[in-house]
Amino acid sequence: MQHFITINDIRSDEFHRILELSASIKQQVKRGEYQHYLANKMLAMVFEKQSLRTRVSFETGMFQLGGSSTYLGNEIGFGKRESIKDIAEVLSSMVDVIMFRGMKHQSVEDLARYSAVPVINGLTDSAHPCQALADMFTLREIFGDLRGKKLSWVGDANNVAASLLQASARLGVKFSVAAPSGYQFDSNVISNLIGDGAAEGFDLELTDDPFKAVKNAIAVYTDVWVSMGQEAEEEERKKILSPYQVNAELMAAAGHNAIFLHCLPARRGLEVTDEVMDSSQSKVIQQAENRLHAQKGLLVWLLNETR
Ligand code: CP
Ligand code: NVA
Repeated sequence: MQHFITINDIRSDEFHRILELSASIKQQVKRGEYQHYLANKMLAMVFEKQSLRTRVSFETGMFQLGGSSTYLGNEIGFGKRESIKDIAEVLSSMVDVIMFRGMKHQSVEDLARYSAVPVINGLTDSAHPCQALADMFTLREIFGDLRGKKLSWVGDANNVAASLLQASARLGVKFSVAAPSGYQFDSNVISNLIGDGAAEGFDLELTDDPFKAVKNAIAVYTDVWVSMGQEAEEEERKKILSPYQVNAELMAAAGHNAIFLHCLPARRGLEVTDEVMDSSQSKVIQQAENRLHAQKGLLVWLLNETR
């Protein structure tokens, strides 16, 4: 069974295939054509955390592909009302694909273990592969072939950063991460994160200097300093991460051809200024829209081209 729990679940050639499907489906939609590649297919979306983009992009995507989706939030009492095994077996007896957004990464792995249908990770504490897929789609749309180009991450090396690191390895992108000590990737986990699929052109730079990270980068990417589930650490995180704000000075160091990316939601005035968010370098709305197109590519690949 093919799942999409982390980027390492797909090889480089599969990654390229999904990006190709996403691009062709996006072009069709822009021409007003809606091909029902997933007629009669049902997606169950299980959420333990809040969402705007992930929910709407999956729901719209399934609708446009001729299928449907159902949203399952607090009412199912995930992990409390019944076991994950029972949830996985029941859900997968009725639907064709499951998307899960959860607190613990272990939960999505457990769902996948017991599911008879593909499981997609819609964000956990350690990964956000759908975001990385869509982000590489956006970068490719703007810059073409990404091999050897440099993507910079500034701030907390979190779940989104981990998936971008894996995606960079798959596509041969240079990934530079500026984070303070304690919020940087742990050198012990890096080889696990990269797995065995680093493509030519990939490189990883870890630094505590945001100006070093953004130098010669095609894109400057940041995310919130306090991810969902980390609210108790809010004050400490804001203090330690404040030198890592993406502002006009940092964007100037990257150069005027560099774009700004953020997975959103953004805390304007903290990790990024209004000035950068609203600048012409900011591609965050295109980036958000591409969640829809990239996930349609992913769904078509998973349901029609694997198994
Ligand atoms: N970027 C992202 O996953 O957004 P949501 O949390 O709104 O789904
Ligand atoms: N790192 C953030 C991403 C939200 C899309 C979080 O996990 O809350």
